[in-house]
Amino acid sequence: MLSDRSRPVIEATLPVVGDNIEEIARRFYAHLFDAHPELLDGTFNRGNQAEGTQQVALAGSVAVFANALLESPEQVPEHLLARIAHKHASLGITPAQYEVVHEHLFWAIVDVLGDAVTPEVAAAWDEVYWLMAYALIHTERGLYSARGVRPETVWRDWRVVEKVAETDEVTTFKLQKIDDRLVKTSLPGQYVTVQVPLPDGVRQPRQYSLTRADDGEHRQFAVKRVRGESKPDGEVSNFLCDKVDVGDVLTLSLPFGDVVLDDSRPAVFASAGIGISPMAGMLSHLASAGSRLPVTLLHADSDERSFALRRQVLDDLRRLPGSSAHVWYERGGGSELPVDGVHEGVMRLDGLDLPDGATYYLCGPLPFMQAVRSALIDRGVAPRDIQYEVFGPDLWQADFVTEDAPGAEAAASA
Ligand SMILES: Cc1cc2nc3c(=O)[nH]c(=O)nc-3n(C[C@H](O)[C@H](O)[C@H](O)COP(=O)(O)OP(=O)(O)OC[C@H]3O[C@@H](n4cnc5c(N)ncnc54)[C@H](O)[C@@H]3O)c2cc1C
Ligand code: HEM
Repeated sequence: MLSDRSRPVIEATLPVVGDNIEEIARRFYAHLFDAHPELLDGTFNRGNQAEGTQQVALAGSVAVFANALLESPEQVPEHLLARIAHKHASLGITPAQYEVVHEHLFWAIVDVLGDAVTPEVAAAWDEVYWLMAYALIHTERGLYSARGVRPETVWRDWRVVEKVAETDEVTTFKLQKIDDRLVKTSLPGQYVTVQVPLPDGVRQPRQYSLTRADDGEHRQFAVKRVRGESKPDGEVSNFLCDKVDVGDVLTLSLPFGDVVLDDSRPAVFASAGIGISPMAGMLSHLASAGSRLPVTLLHADSDERSFALRRQVLDDLRRLPGSSAHVWYERGGGSELPVDGVHEGVMRLDGLDLPDGATYYLCGPLPFMQAVRSALIDRGVAPRDIQYEVFGPDLWQADFVTEDAPGAEAAASA
């Protein structure tokens, strides 16, 4: 993939680019938004910008991609690209925007690295950028065309027809279509991007996993309020919970997302807190299809009152023969739910029977998923059988796309 001319240049400069890539990403976004403030209205998530997480995700992905080109030139890091492409498609990113990003990214590279960016170095990194960009553009084109849409037509308005308080912190929104067009199907586990006009007049996009199977008429998702504690409260989650009511109209993208259920193998869902949402969507699909797939649900929460969607997921689970459920409550307490095990404290897998040949789906805070993934790998589960959904820019990807690859340190330190 990478030309013989660029390869030694990338090899020689990857460490310095890796060491500086977060600073490059920071300057890139500042420069990009200066020139294109409209990208902060409806396209980029300003919460992720304020936290710096998107900058880290972008930097990590470029470093991982460059590293992968060197280590295994015939193999593209599919998982990394799929996640990005689905996120891009859910935001209606266009091929033409890759030129814009290119211009500002290369401005930032020169701004940070100065004279080290000789014409030869610039040409080699240009090649890396366009290899990655074309791989993404190609995947995104496939995603749009499979749905019969263009980037600008991923959006559609829906009316809120029900708002249900699931717990003190989590609210379900049920939306109904308001036009005559057919509703495109979702795959179990996918999310939509919701585009919300905030009080300052700026539209802000956020992703929410679908919690119910398609019925041709509705979309449903559950929103957990983000409490800022020492930082600002989450903008969109609190706006949705406090200000959006039955009768209001919300703009949603088509469903996208690469973490989808493989219903040819037993499934084990391990979730914590609001991480139950994609599991609820997958269980709803299975139950409504009359599936006989054995599913094991492992869920951790503060206590049973905080366990959002608990009745729905257990009703659906109990319709699947051979399924089982275990819960872990940090604050202890019993359970009134039809579960097979109630445990106190954080989730622990030792002593638990898990099905052979299963696919594992993880969703929850990163430390939770890291601990569960390590425990599964210790039990002999193959890494390829573990999928995970991150509720934010994926800061974990870089760690394990390259974990077995020689030279992984460059990417890990990026
Ligand atoms: C694929 C995917 C699926 C998801 N599914 C769900 C789901 O089903 N349910 C769900 O509830 N969520 C889900 N999420 C998360 C959701 O998209 C939002 O990220 C979440 O609701 C928080 O958005 P917010 O606007 O309320 O918070 P934001 O305003 O974006 O704030 C996020 C964080 O940034 C901090 N922050 C904001 N501004 C600043 C600042 N100026 N300085 C310092 N810190 C700041 C906030 O304190 C907060 O901790 C999902 C995310 C993804 C990527
Ligand atoms: C080769 C070029 C690009 C790379 C490597 C790249 C990489 C990434 C990565 C790693 C993410 C985070 C994915 C996740 O974990 O959820 C992301 C998200 C995103 N990208 Fe790109 N991207 C590229 C091009 C573009 C272009 C051209 C645009 C259009 C302006 C764009 C807009 C976005 C937006 C809006 C998000 C979501 C940001 C957020 O939620 O904070 N990207 N991209």
